[in-house]
Amino acid sequence: MFDKLTYIERRKALHNSGLKGVGLILGNIESSMNFPENTFHFRQDSSFLYFFGLDFPGLAGVVDFDSGEDYIFGDDVDIEDIIWMGKQVPLKENAAKAGVKNTAPFNELFKFISKAIKSGRKIHFLPPYRAANKMILEQLLGISSFQVREHASIEFIKAIIPIRSVKDANEINEIEKACATGYEMHVTAMKMAYPDVWEQKIAGTIEGIAVAGGAMPSFPIILTQHGETLHNHSHAEFLKKGNLMLTDAGAESGMHYASDFTRTVPVGGKFTQKQREIYEIVLAANNHGHKLTKPGVSYLSVHFSVAEVITTKLKELGLMKGDVKEAVRNGAHALFMPHGLGHMMGLDVHDMEDLGEINVGYDEEIRPVSQFGTAYLRLGKKLKPGYVITNEPGIYFIPDLIDKWQHEKINTDFINFEKLNEYRNFGGIRLEDDVLVTETGSRILGKRIPIHPDDIESVMQ
Ligand code: GLY
Ligand code: MN
Ligand code: MN
Repeated sequence: MFDKLTYIERRKALHNSGLKGVGLILGNIESSMNFPENTFHFRQDSSFLYFFGLDFPGLAGVVDFDSGEDYIFGDDVDIEDIIWMGKQVPLKENAAKAGVKNTAPFNELFKFISKAIKSGRKIHFLPPYRAANKMILEQLLGISSFQVREHASIEFIKAIIPIRSVKDANEINEIEKACATGYEMHVTAMKMAYPDVWEQKIAGTIEGIAVAGGAMPSFPIILTQHGETLHNHSHAEFLKKGNLMLTDAGAESGMHYASDFTRTVPVGGKFTQKQREIYEIVLAANNHGHKLTKPGVSYLSVHFSVAEVITTKLKELGLMKGDVKEAVRNGAHALFMPHGLGHMMGLDVHDMEDLGEINVGYDEEIRPVSQFGTAYLRLGKKLKPGYVITNEPGIYFIPDLIDKWQHEKINTDFINFEKLNEYRNFGGIRLEDDVLVTETGSRILGKRIPIHPDDIESVMQ
């Protein structure tokens, strides 16, 4: 945990947001895998961690906007628990570490909320993403667990997002720890990427590095020779010479701050000419995105500027044609990069995505674009110092998508389908770095994982 003052200050910012009523932030409970006592690794809710700091199951935090008081509800363990889990720190003592004086058993939360509702006070809560919390909210509020997400407080969401978006020096330090683990994961994967090695063996090895780094991967590892499938979680194949291996993986720090990197390497350690040509385009796109990442710039404009770089260079290779700006306006680049350039990162790898992508990534000024490809851009709004984002351009050759566009004559003025057919088995390349927006520009977090093709080849030797 950080110092208790950190949590006091964070809640103070929430109290100063002008809301009335009660702010309820449910922590997570254990989640069973295959029988009740055999649970998945526990992961606390990120907003609970941010404002109340305690990394244990079965807690709820309340910010009383009317009285100015904060509460943690949860149960102390009994002798049975102590026999199995060892001696536990009492809730009162743990809550004090987050600067919270008021504690009560979890059941008291029902009385507290019921009394607040009877007095006509509004209960602000966040959109639940776990079934258990949907059921608790149903019990607390009398709203069906199937509908409770729709009743989440947009004012509460909008108060929390700006506070969590700007990372302080201690948070950056945590993210850099996660980046250091991510570095080790990726360099290890590169060194293992030789013919006949099972993808699962590499994925499992780097997952172990994430766990040894203090916590766990920040999301399920993507490691595949089918990089054209954007989030391919199958690791079933054996590596083959001539293929590319795409690894999209990151770690959480011990305090659950994320890293998220992607590298793409040639199985066996040597890029072919064809692979290097596409790789160099993605690298130029990544560097261009980083150069444009600065305060005051809208990330939507960075996304489109990167799309222009990709289009210009694919045109030079003969895969695209026509006017570059017009091609990008028509979304032709999305055949090759059908996803957004990046996203916010923090306590969640896609930071605060549970609070709604549109609330986190957009505002009144910059609205989401529904065009194919750009619709998947999770962040569009203007950047501010303290934001941590990922830049992750890619070029993919997705046979089904190519066939669909060719068949339906989509963007035929800008795509050279004949030449494209030579790339049907190419796979995909994505290069992802984590970047801090500073007062004057941006800085790549952690030691940059080898990214230049020569450096990748030399690490792999
Ligand atoms: N880890 C998925 C992503 O890069 O956004
Ligand atoms: Mn990623
Ligand atoms: Mn990412």
